[in-house]
Amino acid sequence: MISSFDFVIFGGTGDLTMRKLIPSMYHHFCEGLLDCGGRIVGVARSEMDSKKFRNLVNKEAKPHIEEEFIDKAKWAEFLEMLHYVAVDVTTPEGFEALGKVLDEHPDRQRVFYLSIAPHFFAPTVQYLQQFGLNKNGARLAVEKPLGKDLQSAKEINSLMRAVFEEEQIYRIDHYLGKETVQNLMALRFGNSLFEPLWNRSHIKSVQITVAETVGLEGRTYYDGSGALRDMVQNHLMQLLCILAMEPPAENNANFVRDEKLKVLRSLRKIKDREVSEDVVRAQYTSYGDLSGYIEELEAAGVENAESETETYVAIKAEIDNWRWKGVPFLLRTGKRMRERTTEVVINFRDVPHPIFPTAATVVHEPNRLVLRLQPEEYIKLLMYAKQPGDEFSLRPVKLDLNLNDGLKVRQRSAYERIMIDLLRGDQTLFVRDDELEAAWEWIDPIREAWQKEGSPLYKYKSADWGPTSANELIIKAGSSWFEESGI
Ligand code: NDP
Ligand code: BG6
Repeated sequence: MISSFDFVIFGGTGDLTMRKLIPSMYHHFCEGLLDCGGRIVGVARSEMDSKKFRNLVNKEAKPHIEEEFIDKAKWAEFLEMLHYVAVDVTTPEGFEALGKVLDEHPDRQRVFYLSIAPHFFAPTVQYLQQFGLNKNGARLAVEKPLGKDLQSAKEINSLMRAVFEEEQIYRIDHYLGKETVQNLMALRFGNSLFEPLWNRSHIKSVQITVAETVGLEGRTYYDGSGALRDMVQNHLMQLLCILAMEPPAENNANFVRDEKLKVLRSLRKIKDREVSEDVVRAQYTSYGDLSGYIEELEAAGVENAESETETYVAIKAEIDNWRWKGVPFLLRTGKRMRERTTEVVINFRDVPHPIFPTAATVVHEPNRLVLRLQPEEYIKLLMYAKQPGDEFSLRPVKLDLNLNDGLKVRQRSAYERIMIDLLRGDQTLFVRDDELEAAWEWIDPIREAWQKEGSPLYKYKSADWGPTSANELIIKAGSSWFEESGI
């Protein structure tokens, strides 16, 4: 059990708090992981007392907990842990009141979770220091976006580091909190089967797809970001790191993050003219009943919308190190795609000297490992067996492993993992300052080339798999996008 704590959520009335943070804490509470003397302190500008805040949580957060897990008595007990302090983070006044509440228990572990827009990070962190609230190893958790380029990421890092030590800072990438993403590490480093094959001698290419069916959904601020910043810089690059890193000597925060950092530093920069060769950006257009990106911007209140923001990116990335030299890592992510899926495909090299024909009706493809992370979780391995009968020919068969089969436990959400690790002080699944900067260092030249060269922004139809130029990109890399559910 986590001993008593004060978990302060800046942005305590916001969407993220209500949809993810409060439900996660409730699940921990029900599992007996939280000391009920601990406090969750919501902070926002709106004037209200703790009673009103509890009513708000009851109305806004409770519907995000599956009904079967709501136990009336537990819920009532949990609400008692909630407190509220009104603070406008741009002025000092409210911080004094917050300090008074926290000083009722000066020795408790404090966590400050910034679920507020990034331009509020600077005043919040500075006032935390000015009012002496960052004491006793208090932890600071920050939500994305963590910068929009290397320069702004460095500024965020240095403003946090001026007040907190790196060991106190928890940069959130919710993909790392997903059980399925952690399962990639389990697959690689908990089994001896794959690791000997996990290199350029046996693997021809790797694909990482994060496809979403949702579009803009009224989030007009997405327009200032785009898929490269919103998804690639963080989630896809973290997946790539986990797939490509060397085995860490131990499963601890700095050992794991050191290995991820080495991958980020080995990524070959794509810049200037190479960007039009190795990167495709695109925006979705309307199809059937589905509106296009521009129409959605207008529906969200942007008049005469024009936008060059990419809602889709495909990249051929290369890692210049001994293990991966020459193996293309093909990344793609997009909104309004045909299916929601997060999937890794490992294409192995073919047998060096084929001696059997493949059955006439079958296209021969080398062994392929498909690791599906969302919405279902499974592993499939495409292999070959003998076609029954007189002829000696091969037919594809698949080794099919559903990772949730037989599991009677509730799958934890990414935020549950994040919240509990924050309380326990385990930084393994959080991004270190140097990792964040190394990721931006790789991203920035791509954006710069887009601006300089006026490189094309392709279009793709809503509910499709992206533009045809992304197919050309992967064909040039000697592969093709894997798009069937199954093998
Ligand atoms: P919301 O707009 O729903 O909530 C913003 C919160 O900030 C509210 O509680 C608001 O309350 C508070 N706030 C605004 N101005 C101030 C201020 N001056 N002082 C104190 N509090 C203030 O945002 P989200 O919850 O959606 O997102 C919060 C952050 O998390 C953003 O940076 C977002 O990018 C990030 N994020 C969100 C995700 C999501 O799923 N929603 C996912 C990943 C990241 P009040 O108006 O009462 O002050
Ligand atoms: C967020 C992005 O980080 O991840 C969103 O800002 C995206 O644009 C979301 O929709 C996807 O997360 P998940 O967990 O639904 O795959």
